[in-house]
Amino acid sequence: MSVIEHYQELISKELEKNSFLGIEPKGLYEPCDYILSIGGKRLRPVIVMLGSYVFDGKVEEVLKPALAIEYFHNFSLMHDDIMDEAPLRRGKETVHLKYNINTGILSGDALLIQAYRMFEDLPAEKFKAVTQLFSKTAVELCEGQQYDMNFETQKEVSYEEYIQMITLKTGVMMGASLQIGAMIADASEEDCQHLYEFGKNLGIAFQLKDDYLDVFGQQDFGKIHAGDIIENKKTILYIKALEVAEEKEASELKFWYGMKTDNIDKVYAVEKIYRIAKVDFEVMSLIGNYTELAMSHLDKIQVADEKKLQLRELAASLIDRQV
Ligand code: IPE
Ligand code: IPE
Ligand code: MG
Ligand code: MG
Ligand code: MG
Repeated sequence: MSVIEHYQELISKELEKNSFLGIEPKGLYEPCDYILSIGGKRLRPVIVMLGSYVFDGKVEEVLKPALAIEYFHNFSLMHDDIMDEAPLRRGKETVHLKYNINTGILSGDALLIQAYRMFEDLPAEKFKAVTQLFSKTAVELCEGQQYDMNFETQKEVSYEEYIQMITLKTGVMMGASLQIGAMIADASEEDCQHLYEFGKNLGIAFQLKDDYLDVFGQQDFGKIHAGDIIENKKTILYIKALEVAEEKEASELKFWYGMKTDNIDKVYAVEKIYRIAKVDFEVMSLIGNYTELAMSHLDKIQVADEKKLQLRELAASLIDRQV
């Protein structure tokens, strides 16, 4: 069993140990259990643990902090799905549809608070440093979500603005997850910074791939196909298409993004423009660039190369993923 598989198993067990199943009031806790039990790659808790592994930290000390990050992630998805009006999450009904919107709000809140409680066992000094980084990151994620929403009505979104938005929405939490693991394992400040930058840039690549998969991913796999097109999300595909498309295609793209409809003609038309503009290639090459940038920070960390192998493999698998 690989280190990553082993950690995934430990995380599953820890999630079970801390399960919300059966706790009263059920209306509050059952949806927390529901979203945590319908799957997910458990990427963030795994990287908390890998952050510690790189510096020979103790597994017992990072398990709960790893859970904190997974709880926070699931809280953010519960609220994100309300905001995005998403019907599916991980192939299953979203919380606000299975229950109702108020449930999605309050169960999300509870999960967020339970996330913080997972840091309570840390020794005082680490508790302070870890929660400081965590809170800073959590509020950045809110900033990213706000930019994401602003972009829906903002006329033009530049490439730079977009990268800033996904850095906040997705990148920083990946960086912080790794750094929290490293801090708990007593890594040096400089190593922590490089690990953070590795995670952040990998997170950017990860979100670019998320945008890519929305349109070019395997269909019928847990999310509505082209949900971002339906919701007029100005994704990297949209931004790059406007950059390179001919006048005719560019104005057609703007025309379709001027209306909110799940009409299949819109999805087909926008996909066709993306293919003509070859944005799929363009975006895959951007993903390569950010992954390389991430790797350059990993190279600078002062530990034996073999300790970095798991992170290299994880990075490669994230970028190659088809779902
Ligand atoms: C989804 O994250 C939200 C993004 C930031 C793209 P994941 O793709 O890690 O979601 P799960 O936890 O595996 O379902
Ligand atoms: C979600 O981004 C990111 C956060 C929850 C912070 P998206 O809205 O792109 O994620 P998916 O596509 O719904 O998973
Ligand atoms: Mg969403
Ligand atoms: Mg969203
Ligand atoms: Mg998405």
